[in-house]
Amino acid sequence: MQRRTSDFAENVPLLICFIGPDGRITDANSYFVQATGFSKDELTGMQVFDIVTQRAGTIKETIATIISSRQASVKEIDVLVRRKDGTEFPGILAASALPQQDNSSSESKVIGVAVTESSQLARAKEEAEAANKELRRKESLKDEFIAIASHELRTPIQPILGLALLAKKGQISQEEAWDSVLKEARRLTQLANDILDVSRIENGTLRYNFARANVSEIIEYVVNALRTSELGKDIDFSIVMDESARAAYCDLDRQRITQVLMNVIGNAAKFTIKGRVNIEARADVKNSRYDIMVSDTGGGIPEAVLPHMFKKFITKSVGEGEKHGSGLGLFISRAIIAAHNGAIYLYNNDENGATFVIRLPFEQPAARRALSSPPPGG
Ligand SMILES: Nc1ncnc2c1ncn2[C@@H]1O[C@H](COP(=O)(O)OP(=O)(O)O)[C@@H](O)[C@H]1O
Ligand SMILES: [Mg+2]
Repeated sequence: MQRRTSDFAENVPLLICFIGPDGRITDANSYFVQATGFSKDELTGMQVFDIVTQRAGTIKETIATIISSRQASVKEIDVLVRRKDGTEFPGILAASALPQQDNSSSESKVIGVAVTESSQLARAKEEAEAANKELRRKESLKDEFIAIASHELRTPIQPILGLALLAKKGQISQEEAWDSVLKEARRLTQLANDILDVSRIENGTLRYNFARANVSEIIEYVVNALRTSELGKDIDFSIVMDESARAAYCDLDRQRITQVLMNVIGNAAKFTIKGRVNIEARADVKNSRYDIMVSDTGGGIPEAVLPHMFKKFITKSVGEGEKHGSGLGLFISRAIIAAHNGAIYLYNNDENGATFVIRLPFEQPAARRALSSPPPGG
């Protein structure tokens, strides 16, 4: 057998053997050996027709057409392959005469025989069908996303146009017009950013810059920003954390974790309207995790909506009133936390309101000391 041919046969996931014009096996690949249970030595010299059979015994005649050069190759023939232990399995056979050196006689003719196991074919077909189905599912989700996203993007444009027109005609005050235009324009920007994030998450192109960061600083930054914002004006924020939570460092993307906290703590304020939002942080050294619990005294989440909270465009809480958002924030938050190998979950409080828990993997203080640069101020 030509070296290159048998090397090739070795690396193909099919039962392959080579036979001479007498139908005797001259070589077989390891897949053939493995599938039939015969050793290579046992196979060499055996009649291929003793192993590969067809009900009417026509396989011999079929291959004879190649031997006699009446046909160069045959394919898609249903066969049964007999194992050494006498059991059989179905397969599909293809055979072809291999190119010969010019002056060689028909006695030295070599025929390559390849058999695909039917179960393997069925499996491949099943896999291809499943992949196809998944592709169609993703395609239709994408269509749906585009439809909702473009509807949502149009929503703030209408009031911007309307207000600008009214102000131009002098029918509302400049002050009133600008306030509303700014509000709608901000909403539009937020929405466009959210849509961009979702699309990056879905095609796996959202990039993260991981670095060691002090989590309590991020929490304080976010709470301060919200305290002084429109959202937080009637909210009494409190932060509870002990020394170990304050000193803890995690490996994270600061900007993205800020975004998650801005959304979750912002949601708590947004859907509470007037009341308390408490943020508690705990560094669990023993279990290597850092938990941030955000609880509010708002309307909580309807039981029916609870299981869907991290899906896209979920905006169905009680008492949300005017404060409508994109409904993409939690979907994005969950993806970001997952990229940090963390977890995010929520529950309704016994009294009122909801609690969101964000769990991040926590770097051991010992591992931190081993690093060359000490944390700032600690
Ligand atoms: N703390 C909360 N209390 C009540 N409902 C909430 C709370 N957090 C989130 N929700 C509900 O989940 C929905 C999705 O939140 P999110 O994905 O951040 O979108 P958005 O803030 O843009 O509405 C909100 O619209 C709201 O209905
Ligand atoms: Mg939100």
